[in-house]
Amino acid sequence: MRPATSPPRTAMRPDGSRLIKFYFGEELPFVSHGRGVFVYDTDGRRYLDGCSGAVTANLGHADPQILRTMSEQAERITFAHRGSFHSEQSERLADRLGGMTGYPYVFLCNSGSEAVETALRLTLQYWRERGEPERSRFVSHAVSYHGATLGGLSLSGHPQRRWVAEALLHGFNELTPPYAYRFAEGRDDDEFTAFLIERAARVLDAHGPTLAGVVVEPVGGAAGGAITPPDGYLPALAALCRERGVPLIADEIMTGMGRTGTMLAAQHWDVHPDMVVLGKGMGAGYAPVSAVLVGEHFVDTIAAGTAAVTNGHTYGGNPLGSAVALAVLEAVESRDLVTNAAARGKQLRAGLEELAERQEVIGEVRGLGLLQGLELVADRATRSPGDPVGSLTRAVVLAARDQGLLVYPATGGINDAVLIAPPLTTTPEEIDLLLELLDAALTALDRNAGSAA
Ligand SMILES: Cc1ncc(COP(=O)(O)O)c(C=O)c1O
Repeated sequence: MRPATSPPRTAMRPDGSRLIKFYFGEELPFVSHGRGVFVYDTDGRRYLDGCSGAVTANLGHADPQILRTMSEQAERITFAHRGSFHSEQSERLADRLGGMTGYPYVFLCNSGSEAVETALRLTLQYWRERGEPERSRFVSHAVSYHGATLGGLSLSGHPQRRWVAEALLHGFNELTPPYAYRFAEGRDDDEFTAFLIERAARVLDAHGPTLAGVVVEPVGGAAGGAITPPDGYLPALAALCRERGVPLIADEIMTGMGRTGTMLAAQHWDVHPDMVVLGKGMGAGYAPVSAVLVGEHFVDTIAAGTAAVTNGHTYGGNPLGSAVALAVLEAVESRDLVTNAAARGKQLRAGLEELAERQEVIGEVRGLGLLQGLELVADRATRSPGDPVGSLTRAVVLAARDQGLLVYPATGGINDAVLIAPPLTTTPEEIDLLLELLDAALTALDRNAGSAA
C-alpha cells in the first residue's frame, strides 16, 4: 500500500504523451505556424489549408489586422463577465452582426455547440413564457451535425458521433435529409422536394402541440459533405413551419459568415429563419466566438415575461472574443470576401467537376460557394461507399496530406465524403494550386490506406 500522500500511479501512453488525441497512436505533424492559406509544420513542410482547419479560418492565418486588434484589446481587457459588466465590444459586435444579417437581437457564446444549446434553450424559454411549456420537441435531419453537447447530438444524424452518448440523447433527427444522391431514388428536384415536404409534414404533425421547433443546416456539412438541397426545399420547409406555427432555426455554424457566397446560406433561397446559429468563421480561428441571431417575437415574449436570459457560458461575450469577431466582420465587409467566396467558389467548382471526369473515386461534386463537397465511392455504378464506411474518406484525407493539402473528412457513418473549403481570402492562383494538389492526391490514392487506422 502506497502512503496516501504519494501521487496516483500514471500509465503513460507508449508515445510518452499525456494528451488524449483524436485517434490514439496516430502520427500527425506538429503545427508550427500559419501564413495566409498555408500552414507549416515543425519540420518545415507546407500545407495548403484547403478546408480552413475545420471550415473555420475564413481569413486565412496570421492576418495582420486581426492580430493587431487582438493585441490592442488584450492590453485593455480580455475578460469581464456579462453578469457584471456590459462591454462596448460586444454591443458593437451585436449591432454590426444583427445589421448585416437582418436580425434585431444577438446572443453571444463561444463554441458552435454552445450556440446550438442556447438556441434550443431560448426556444424552450419562449414557449414557456407564452404558456405552452409542453412544446419541448425539436426535429432535424437524419443526416446532420449540430454539435457535441447533448442537445446538439440529440439533433445530429451522425451515428459515428452519437453512439457514445446515445443513452442520454433524444432522437430529434427524424427528417429525411435533402440529400439527393442517396435519397432521391430517381425523383427529379421538384418531385424530391415534394416527397421531402410531405414526409416532413407528417413528422411535424405527429408531434403536434409538443413541437417546439425545426433545426436544420441549410447546407449539410460535417455529416455527409456539403449536402445541398433542391432549390424548392428550404422555402417549402419554412412555409411548413409557418403554417404549423413553429420556429425554423438555421444552424449556419459552418455555412454562415459568407462561406457559401452569401452572408447566410439561407439567403440563397430568400429564406429568413426565425433564429440563426453562427460559429466557426465568426472568430475565424482567432478566437472562440459564436452567436445566436434571434427574431423579434422571441425577445418580445421574454421581455414581457421574466425579462431575463440568465443561462449562458462563462466566457460568452467576453471583450477579447467580441473585439476579434468584430474585426473579422469588418474584414469580411471591407475586403468584399463574400463576393470573393462566390467567385472563387465558381472556379473551384468548375475545377472539381473537371477532376470528377477523370477521378473515378468522385461520385458527386456538390456545394455552394467555398463550401464544396466530394462524395467518394468505391463504385460509381452502385454508389457504394468505402468498406468499411469512412475508409475512403480517410484514405483521401491522408493522400491529400501527403501532397501538402488539407481537406476535411465529412462522413457521418452512411457515406464517404470530404469538404473542400479554403479561406474566403483564397486567390485564383491558390485555387489552381489546390486543384493541382488534389488531382495528384487522387491519382496517388491508396484506397486501402484508410482501413488500416
Ligand atoms: C453545422 C454545425 N453545427 C454545430 C457544430 C459544432 O460546433 P463546435 O464544434 O464549435 O462546437 C458544427 C461543427 O462542426 C457544425 O458544423
